Amino acid sequence: MDVELIHIHKHFGEVHANDDVCVRFRSGTIHGLLGENGAGKSTLVKILSGYITHDSGDIALDGKLVSIQTPTDAIRHGIGMLHQDPLDFPSLTVLENFMAGGGGLWLHRREARRRLCEIASSLNFSLDPDAHVSELTVGERQQLEIVRLLALGVQVLILDEPTTGISAVQKEQLFAALRQLAADGRTIIFVSHKLEDVEALCDEVTVMRQGRVVGSAAIPCSPAQLVEMMFGKPLAPPIKPPTAREEIALELREALIRTNTFDLHVPHLAVRCGEVLGLAGLEGSGQQEFLAACSGLIPLRHGSLRLNGREMAHRPYHSFMRAGVCYLPADRLRDGLIGGLTIREHVALRAPTRSFFLDEPLNARLTMEAIRVFNIRGQPNTRVERLSGGNQQRTQLALMPNPLSVICMEHPTRGLDIESALWIWQLLIARCQQGTAILFASSDLDEITAYSDRVLVFSGGRVSEPLDAHRLTADVLGHMIGGKF
Ligand SMILES: Nc1ncnc2c1ncn2[C@@H]1O[C@H](COP(=O)(O)OP(=O)(O)OP(=O)(O)O)[C@@H](O)[C@H]1O
Ligand SMILES: [Mg+2]
Repeated sequence: MDVELIHIHKHFGEVHANDDVCVRFRSGTIHGLLGENGAGKSTLVKILSGYITHDSGDIALDGKLVSIQTPTDAIRHGIGMLHQDPLDFPSLTVLENFMAGGGGLWLHRREARRRLCEIASSLNFSLDPDAHVSELTVGERQQLEIVRLLALGVQVLILDEPTTGISAVQKEQLFAALRQLAADGRTIIFVSHKLEDVEALCDEVTVMRQGRVVGSAAIPCSPAQLVEMMFGKPLAPPIKPPTAREEIALELREALIRTNTFDLHVPHLAVRCGEVLGLAGLEGSGQQEFLAACSGLIPLRHGSLRLNGREMAHRPYHSFMRAGVCYLPADRLRDGLIGGLTIREHVALRAPTRSFFLDEPLNARLTMEAIRVFNIRGQPNTRVERLSGGNQQRTQLALMPNPLSVICMEHPTRGLDIESALWIWQLLIARCQQGTAILFASSDLDEITAYSDRVLVFSGGRVSEPLDAHRLTADVLGHMIGGKF
């Protein structure tokens, strides 16, 4: 089915999130929608899939104008969208979810099971109908959602940043399935800000910036050209100068760290001041617990943890904070920022004031300064959940104390566009130059090799010796994550 969006406008208050957008998605193709954070990509596909309504403009399917006001309207017209966080019921099984989301299509369990397995196997997805959704990986939940939408007869499948948080193997499976669906004549709309994904998968690409369509191209096309379209300027590749010093910031000996399923043993690790240590591995291989233990959020089961020479094992989190350790979680809205509060309120909470009363003029000044220095696209009174992902991460960074001796971070640039990611690393490298050690987990292997001095690989319940990052490539790391070390 050909989809045409014609002169679409959408405002959120002052923000013109979609500004006269015209784009055509052709049947039988995979069409990439690329653009910086906040460019208006999600807004556009939410309009097409009925999750939000547009202010003005038209939607045409195979040349006929249609009205899409709700997700049900969209499904009725054969348009389905896969959200970044799948909309499933974790306490139910795969089959029950499939039936519950079937819009009354399924009266018989057996028939539903047959159809589920049929669609799943046609796409080479291995979904167990009786598994509980709470036990599935993000990639598997995504597969379930695709199967459910296809069972509803969807002809246009929209995916909003579907490769975040899934493994390399699942990404290959997903891409193969999407290619097959396009070959069968479906229209695939693939929203992303990852150039490499768009290049690997799409037939053509439309680029958005600040609410507008700024260009389109057939793939293959030069990455430099796409970057320039996305940001309006070329971007220099990242450079990590040597920053590690002699002194040791963090040292573990015979440390045993408990995870949900196994105990992780670290015989000896010394992280130097100014050093960047990257943690690579499939999600759930112990990196998260490792970072939590290093920042005092969970105790070691056994062993020693020294910060700047001082024994800290079994000390509470507050002692770690006082010793200059900062932890930045992956889930910015759940663990890092407080939903419902504004940027200014966050700055106030962080204030090192001993007084009972808040110095409001001072706080207002500090907030303006944070917004300016960290280039946050938002106002002091913007609630943090209204900020785009990139701007939430900038806000988290703006709230970090200075100086620090150790920063532990999960997925520092997950969901961020290339320019924001480069900017954030520039800032982190400046911290390293002041002597701060950084430990970070990432599923982006290029990020690990580009910024780390040394790398730990987590796999099969074990953690590797620290490896010199300059001798590693993303490919070699990928193999090691598969268990070859
Ligand atoms: N519900 C909302 N309320 C207010 N503003 C919003 C809302 N949703 C989006 N915006 C604003 O609209 C603009 C476009 O946001 P959108 O989510 O479409 O961007 P995006 O291209 O998907 O970005 P990202 O790559 O970060 O996902 C941003 O400035 C954003 O802050
Ligand atoms: Mg988005």
